[in-house]
This record gives sequence, structure tokens and C-alpha cells, in this order.
Amino acid sequence: MITKSTIDKVFETARVEEVIGDFVNLKKSGSNFKGLSPFSDERTPSFMVSPVKQIWKDFSSGKGGTVVSFLMEHEHFTYPEAIKYLAKKYNIEIEETEQTDEEKEKANERESLYLVSDYANTYFQKVLHDTDQGKAIGLSYFKERGFTDETIKKFQLGYAKDEWQAFTDEALKQGYNLDYLQKTGLTIVKEDKKFDRFKGRVLFPIHSMSGRVLGFGGRILGIDKKAAKYLNSPESDIYHKSKVLYGIYYAKQSIAKEDNCYLVEGYTDVIQFHQTGIKNVVASSGTALTSDQIRLINRLTKNITVLFDGDAAGTRASLRGIDLILEQGMNVKVCSFPKGEDPDSFAKSNTLEELTLFLETNALDFIQFKASLLFEETKNDPVKKAETIRDIVNSISKIPDQIKREIYIQECAKIMDISEEVLFSTLAQIHKKERYDANAKFKKEQKSFEVIKPQQQVKKVDVQYELERKIIEILLLYGNKTEVFEDLVLKDNEDGDLILEPVIQEAKVFEKIYLDLQEDEMEFTNEQFRNLYFKIIDTLNQEPEFQLKAFIQKVDPEVANEVTSILMNEERHNLHDWERKNIYPKGKELSIAQLVNETILSLRCHLIDQKVNDFKQETIENNANKTVLEDVLNYSNLKMLLSRKLNRVL
Ligand code: CTP
Ligand code: MN
Repeated sequence: MITKSTIDKVFETARVEEVIGDFVNLKKSGSNFKGLSPFSDERTPSFMVSPVKQIWKDFSSGKGGTVVSFLMEHEHFTYPEAIKYLAKKYNIEIEETEQTDEEKEKANERESLYLVSDYANTYFQKVLHDTDQGKAIGLSYFKERGFTDETIKKFQLGYAKDEWQAFTDEALKQGYNLDYLQKTGLTIVKEDKKFDRFKGRVLFPIHSMSGRVLGFGGRILGIDKKAAKYLNSPESDIYHKSKVLYGIYYAKQSIAKEDNCYLVEGYTDVIQFHQTGIKNVVASSGTALTSDQIRLINRLTKNITVLFDGDAAGTRASLRGIDLILEQGMNVKVCSFPKGEDPDSFAKSNTLEELTLFLETNALDFIQFKASLLFEETKNDPVKKAETIRDIVNSISKIPDQIKREIYIQECAKIMDISEEVLFSTLAQIHKKERYDANAKFKKEQKSFEVIKPQQQVKKVDVQYELERKIIEILLLYGNKTEVFEDLVLKDNEDGDLILEPVIQEAKVFEKIYLDLQEDEMEFTNEQFRNLYFKIIDTLNQEPEFQLKAFIQKVDPEVANEVTSILMNEERHNLHDWERKNIYPKGKELSIAQLVNETILSLRCHLIDQKVNDFKQETIENNANKTVLEDVLNYSNLKMLLSRKLNRVL
């Protein structure tokens, strides 16, 4: 692990405008720099870099963060990779913490597996290009498939001689350890004999996101009925089949830029697409798609287009994999190729324009695709049709976004010729069951309930989000300031009426917010805000001299993104908007103390509204029950009181 002091040094030294300047043409604009977004194709610059705050923000994609998160977004580095990149740029020596012997051994072993794989990759390419057998058999095979020299070199395609242990012998001669050759599966050891796993096959090296060779896919050349067409590296410490996507290294930049990823089945599909000119494509390599693979894509884009071979179109098994994509909140389109064609053959026999046009006109939204496909199959069989409806609504229920779900329901009703009500009630049933399950789980885990139940998050409108965000903003900007707060405390007066009495007290802003929220047992519903909130409070507690800049550098990159977008938006506040949304009845020229009070009170009012609504709902569902009605009344009174307080504050 890189030591904390190295990381600190990197952050102290690196200048966000210099680092980004290597990738984006920046122009001075006031105290900031401006440029064209590297994450989208735009003509007017909306990409901002603040040298003062040492942060960046891309208003076209919403991304933003620190110098490190820029490198992670743009170069798709991991955190340590980004730190190392900066250390190199600024000539900072990297200190690593001592690893335990076991950790060292593990790291060394993985490193050795990488080295062996890298060696093998170079070796197989040499055989392909520089030996008679390689040229006559391997290279001519690739040429026959229509791959150009450039393509063959780019994808580092190779060939393993058709000899029992040509590769193994050479590797051992070069000093590579048999143990690692065996662990990567390059060599198979049986008793005292050794065999080259990929003997006589052409090879497709499989790269990680950052370009290291993890394993190989080897295709047989002849038509040997007994041997598998493709043979792949076995699972190892560096190769996990379910976690890699073939081609991701070559596609990542383009996926982010095009904001879409084509998903195909095979190695050759990926390569042929590249050669034709479409680079945002990866392959699941013939296995069922996994959540880990989808997550790789999800880091780059929210949009996936799944391409099916002509004959494989929409087999139920492949449809199931797609629900996994929906579950991650991604948008899925599906495109099937004409009978007898796969992406490889189609790309080979068409120009880029033709291919692009084909994809554009034939990519169907997944839910529509599934609905029409299954509808055709089952329209004359009522029992099957019912099953199909359930199946499709089930897919729809995986979509986290409510508005999208509703639109899909309406679409499906049309396609399947069935009423929307039936579909909505089926969806409600599925959700009710899910809620029930989640609730049971939640109750088991948690004895006491807070004012807001986390499950309500889905329903929550923006008011809550904006208020929570506002609190974070206040904490970031003024958390450490000492202010005089006028608090209103509820008291009985001599006549026995409840009155609000002002109490003046001095406090730090963060303490005031923390105590107020705690008093009401208020919790943030937005998970990111909740984490951020505790992190800020913690830091403010520990560091009397809270430094915003230092704070941003310490938090996780994803959190840093949220923080920067809050801070960058600070100047863009549109008060009319706040008013229209009925969040802040008044302008921003309030004192900090007023701002704090107002925000917290607004949040409380909002929560009470929600609570009252919940009770009303319950009352409708379970017939009016006396205690529930009383609760509603109590909350309504509380709301009135709070509104009075709010008015006093303003
Ligand atoms: N695959 C595999 N093992 C097999 C068959 C297939 O791992 N025995 C994987 C490979 O990644 C392959 C993908 O599944 O690329 C798709 O299989 P298929 O469509 O049969 O292969 P193609 O890519 O079309 O290969 P080719 O055009 O060379 O026949
Ligand atoms: Mn195929």
C-alpha cells in the first residue's frame, strides 16, 4: 500500500489545472479555467477547473472531483494507479507500507503470474509473425477471416506451434518458473510430462481494464469434432472468467465517449467491429453475463446495447442475463442480426455507414423487444400469455426508476393488448412482495424505527434531496463558524397556553446542526449524503482548523464528486428556483444562523408532511383507526408550530 504521507505529498504538489491541462485545452476564465468537456462531444465549453479550490466540474456530464478523480474518470485508473501517475509526473518518491510476509508473497505471486502471461503473449505473437509455421497456419487463418495486419497487431493476436511443449520449453529456458506456468494454465503437467495448453491454436489475449494480460482464448483451426472450438485459460489468481470482458481495454475510452456499450458474444465479433470502425464493443466470451461484468461497463456508461446472433435471438437464457443489467439501473437495448449472421460476419461484409445504420434502425428497447418476442410466441395460448405477462412485468420491476417503470408498463399494455391496470396491479403485487421481504429483513436487523424509513427513499421527491444537500453545503462552507442562534423553545405561559420563547445561544454551525438533527432523530435518506454528513461532522469534531481543500482530498473519489458538484453549484444558485420549489420562502441574504435554522426547520416540516401522508394512507387502507387519527392530528399540530417557528425565523 502507498503510504499516507506519499498520498498527502502528491495532493499537496499536484495542480489540478496542470494535470488536466495535459488532456484538455484549458483557457483562463475569471478565477477558473474553462475547456471543452473530454467526456462528451460539445462545442461550447462547460468543463471548469478551479485552481483555488483544486477541483474540476464537467457540467455536461455532471462529473467532477479532485485531480485524482479526474485521472480515474478520464484514464480509467484505479486510485493507486492515479496516485502513481501523479507521483511520476511530479517526481515524488513513492513509499509503500510494509506488507506482511503473506501479503508480499501473494502480491509477488500475482505479479509473477502477470509476468508469465505477458511473456507468453509476446512469445505467441513472435511465433505468429516470425516463424514459418506461424505465418503459414496462424497468420493466414487470421487473414482469411479478414483481419488486417494492423488489427492483428493491435489485438496482439498470436499462435502456438502445433508441438507438445515448444512454448513450455522456451519459457523454462528463459527462466520462468514451472509453478507459474502451471498456475496460469499455459502449461499442463501430467506426472512427469508437460504439455502446452494452446498447442496448435490461434490466440486471443484477454486484457484487464488497464491493459495487462490476464489469460488467453485459443481457437482451434481444423474441424475437429472432438476438441472444443475455443479453449480458454483456466481460473487463476489473475484470471476470473466472470469478472472480465473481452475487449474492455480497447473499448473503454470509446464507451465513455459514445455513452453506450455494444455487448457481443465472441472474440471475433469485437475485433471485426473495431476494424470496421466501431470501438465501443466488448464480449462476454460465450458465458452467461454476470453482475461483475455489468459493473465494469456501468463505470463507463449507463447504456448497453446487446447484440444477438441471428439464430440465437432472444433465447430465454440470454434474456435472463439482461434483467441483471436492468437491476443496475442501466438502459438496455437489443439488436438481433439477420438469420445466419453474427456481428462478426455482418461487420465484415458491410461498411461502417451500413453497420451504423443497421444498429440504429434495429436496436429495440429491451422491454419492447421482449414483449413483442414473447407475445408472438404465446398469443394463442392464454395460460402461456399470462406467464409471459408476469415475466415481462418482472423485468420491469427490476428498473429502479419509477417514471421509467410507468412508461414501460404503458408500452407493454399496447404491445400485449392488455389493460394498463392489470399490468400495474401485477407490478404492485411484485413490489408488495419485495417490500414485504425487505421489511421483514429490515425489522429483523433494526429494532427501533427512525422518523424516516429508508424504504421510502424511492418515493421521496426532490424537496428532501435538496434540503439534505443544502445541509451538506452549509456544513462544508460554514461548518466551523461560530454563530449566534436564536432558538425558539416551546413553553407554557401563565394562562397555560403554549408559546414559543426565543433563547439565544452561541454555537458552532456544525454542532447546532448535529444536535438539532439528533434531537429529532432525523436521518438523511440519501445514502451518499448520510455518509458524507457523518464524515464532515467527524472531521469538524477532530480538526479545529477545518480545511475544505484538505477535506475533499481525503474522501473517496465518488464522494469527492458529490462534494465538488455541491461547491461548484454554490455560485449558480437560482433563488427563484428555490422559491418555486417551495423550499425556501425567502432569499439568500440571510445570516448563516438564519440559514441553518431555516433549512433544518424546512426539513422537519417536510418530514412531518410525509409522516402525515403516510398516516393518511394507512387510514385509507385499514379503515379509520382511532389511534392513527390521533397521530395525524398530533403531527398536524406539530407542523403548525414548526411553520410558526419558520415564519419567526424569516
Ligand atoms: N466460446 C468458448 N468456448 C467454446 C465456444 C465458444 O469460450 N467452446 C466463447 C468464445 O469467447 C467465443 C464465444 O464464446 O468467441 C462465441 O462463440 P461462437 O459464436 O461459437 O464463436 P465465434 O466468436 O463466432 O467464433 P468463430 O467465428 O471463430 O466461429
Ligand atoms: Mn459467433
